Amino acid sequence: MTTKNSNKVSSQLNQVLADLQVVYQNLRTMHWLVQGPQFHQLHKLYEEMYNQTAETIDEVAERVLMLGQVPLHTYADYLKVAKVEVVTQVPKGLESLKTALENQQYLLNGYRELISLASENSDEGTVALASELIASTEKRIWMLGATLS
Ligand SMILES: [Fe+2]
Repeated sequence: MTTKNSNKVSSQLNQVLADLQVVYQNLRTMHWLVQGPQFHQLHKLYEEMYNQTAETIDEVAERVLMLGQVPLHTYADYLKVAKVEVVTQVPKGLESLKTALENQQYLLNGYRELISLASENSDEGTVALASELIASTEKRIWMLGATLS
């Protein structure tokens, strides 16, 4: 793995990190502001999801460090770099799941981009991490989709 290639991988890791931070806060916002008859179920679900997201954030940032780079670590940088939309208003009930689902689909694309860059660069550690993230995100997408259908 050359430094140049590792920069490409760590820059995609930083992209994913910034997006995850916004998704994390989106989930907290939905946990706090969701309303409706399914409140309890959704409030709990968003809490589980933001806790899982916090763990993922840590793994991704530490992978950047393992590649000898610096993970993004300020809110200003996260907002500058993230492409996922910041949730400002939470629609009622199950409708809010659509945003949660779209955010996961967006993250999945970022992980796919990451795995392809990492495998081009023979970075097996990042491939393994991305592969884990793809599998868990696909499962989450399936579950959110099933709830919505
Ligand atoms: Fe809470």
